[in-house]
This record gives sequence, structure tokens and C-alpha cells, in this order.
Amino acid sequence: MEKETKIVSLGRDKKWTNGAVNPPVFRASTILFASMEEMNYAAKNRANGEPFYGRRGGPTHFAFQAAISELEGGVGTALYPSGSAAISASLLSFLKSGDHLLMVDSVYEPTRALCDNLLAGFGIETTYYDPLIGAGIVDLIKENTKVLFLESPGSITMEVQDVPTLSAIAHDHDMVVMLDNTWASPINSRPFDMGVDISIQAATKYIVGHSDVMIGTATANEKCWDQLRENSYLQGQCTSPDDVYLASRGLRTLAVRMAQHEKNALQVANWLAERPEVDSLRHPAFPSCPGHEFFKRDFSASNGLFSFILKEGNQRAVTAFVENMKHFKMGFSWGGYESLILGVFGIDKLRSATQWDSSKPLIRLHIGLENVDDLIADLEAAFVRFNGALNNGK
Ligand SMILES: Cc1ncc(COP(=O)(O)O)c(C=O)c1O
Repeated sequence: MEKETKIVSLGRDKKWTNGAVNPPVFRASTILFASMEEMNYAAKNRANGEPFYGRRGGPTHFAFQAAISELEGGVGTALYPSGSAAISASLLSFLKSGDHLLMVDSVYEPTRALCDNLLAGFGIETTYYDPLIGAGIVDLIKENTKVLFLESPGSITMEVQDVPTLSAIAHDHDMVVMLDNTWASPINSRPFDMGVDISIQAATKYIVGHSDVMIGTATANEKCWDQLRENSYLQGQCTSPDDVYLASRGLRTLAVRMAQHEKNALQVANWLAERPEVDSLRHPAFPSCPGHEFFKRDFSASNGLFSFILKEGNQRAVTAFVENMKHFKMGFSWGGYESLILGVFGIDKLRSATQWDSSKPLIRLHIGLENVDDLIADLEAAFVRFNGALNNGK
């Protein structure tokens, strides 16, 4: 089955849908049993999709979990109330006091804060590594290094990692490899073929697709599934069937949305590449993006999220750029049907293994499903405001 067909077909078994096209919302905390025998059977099979108790999920959850597991290419998927919960619960399921974690330096800021605050407080040590370190990762592995965490491409700065090389080295040292795979979504890369053990999605983004639900998924291979599932359950991680229903509904249009996001974003990026104010594009599909060669090798497509770096600028000029846009709205997210813009400052303060030159401003765009000519006109007007503010200050 090709990905478009899978997106439409997976997770729609009659045992979950009861014959409806969409898996309906099934709300329950308590499941009732007619006999001790039934109860014992449910308890024994509670990890295998047998209704047992609300925190283990019901048919709405099982349908969505089955679809995500197969799309990602793993054996099981745990659900969480946000992408961040999926990240923290995955880490906490495989790390304990005294362990060492290798975390990519370009990681999503709250993941970094989790390591520096909560995990550090639990006695779990984090070493950050250059996203482009490749085989050099071996020098950072210690006796107590248990997890290698990747995010590819990195949030905001978009470095693409050599996932197969990093995973192979981590496995040589008995480590668990976790990947924040949100940018690829479950359809534009094959994380388990690249050696990843746990693939995490902030489903809040492209899977939901409509900017109205928080939800996360972590899909594991055979080796890690039991531990991830049981330790996440012990942490009390569970999701509302209403949210899962919306995520499952969003999933059905993922392939068509992604194709349009990609097409629109490539058009905007090509236009930006010609602008005299632009220093470089941080779009994985462009050679100027660090790790572009890994994007070409490991991804089947891009999407609507990328950044660009300006040759010069200051906070005032960037503010003039991003404020008063007609179509691009300001918000800390991406993956919905709408265009978003973010002027990002202080990246250098979020780096410890690499350097970042903050004298050149970075703007992140999420290109939505609007007509691309309207978006380009919006950006053209933004450059007029930006240049005006820059020249005024000179
Ligand atoms: C790359 C990445 N990972 C994880 C998250 C966290 O997801 P959530 O907001 O659902 O907690 C985000 C959110 O912006 C993200 O961009």
C-alpha cells in the first residue's frame, strides 16, 4: 500500500468503528465485566488492545494507535496529552538516576529545559552534541550513556542529522535511540529503517492539522515497546478520546495537506532565495541547509516549515517585518492549515555544543494552505517595512 492509501485505510477495523466510516468517540473510564473469568481475561490481555480500564484506552485510541504504529513502522504506539509529554515520558521510561543522556544541541527549547531542570534534578546527566557530529558521537559515549536523542531537522535552525550513522553507533553501545520525528510526520521518513527505537510525534502539529488539539505519540520497535508502554502507563499518561478522535480525523487528510504545504513552501523559499536581504535559507530541501545531503537520502518530501537568515537586522526591523502581516499570524506553533511567522532571537543562548551567530536575524515561517501569491505579497510588504525600519535606524 502506498502512503496515501494507508492514511485512508489504517485503523478502521470494524472492531473499532462498529461499521461507521470514522472511528467514533468512545468515552469510558470504567469497563464492566460479567464474570471473574472475563475480568481475568481482560487483565491478562490489557496490553494487547483488550478493553480493561480507561487509562489503557478504548476503541477510539486503539484505532488511532494501530494507524500510527503502521505508518511509523513500529510495533506499538503510546499516546500522550502533548508532544512534550511524549518526549518526557519516553525519556523517563528509559533513564534513571546516575544515567547519562546524549541530546542534540539544536533540540526544541522545552526539551532542552526538561534535561537541564527536571532530569538534572533526578541525577540524570545530559551532554549536548553537535547535530552534524556524525560518527564523532562515539567520543561522547560513556559507560553510563543510556539514551541518544535526536531531532531531525532541528527546531528553528533546521539542521538535518545523519540518523543511520548515529543510531548504528548508539546500538553498538547498547543505547536506546529516540527521535523527535515531528517534522517528517509519520509519512515522510522511515525512522525504524534508520535504526531508531522510539519515534516521537508532536501530533499537535501535522497529524491534527487544524491547530485545535494537543496530543503526542511515541512509537516503539519490538525491543522497546513493552518498557515504553508499561512505564508510560505507570506515569499515568493517557489521552481524551475526543482529542484522539480529532487527531484520527486529521490524519485522513495528512498526505494531501503535506503535499500542498510542501509545494507552497518551496515556492515561497525559492522567492526568498532571490531577495537581496536574505543571507541563506534553512530549508532542508535547499543545499544551504546543514545536513541537506541527509534530507535527500532519508526523507521522501519536505513540508511547510522552514527558516531563513537575514544578512543584517535588529530587533526593531524584525519586529516591523513580523507585525502587521495580513496572512502570516504570529504564534508558537506549526503544522496547522494556516501560515505562521516567528522572529527568533537569542538562539546563541540555547547552544552549548555549537556556536550560533545571533547578529544575523532568523525568521521561521510555517507556510499554510493559502494561495501562495497572497503569501508572497504579504512577505514583499514585510520586506518594505523591514527595510524602512532598518534605514531609519542608520
Ligand atoms: C519539534 C517539536 N517537538 C515537540 C513539540 C512539543 O509538542 P507539544 O506542543 O504538543 O507539546 C513541538 C512543539 O512546538 C515541536 O516543535
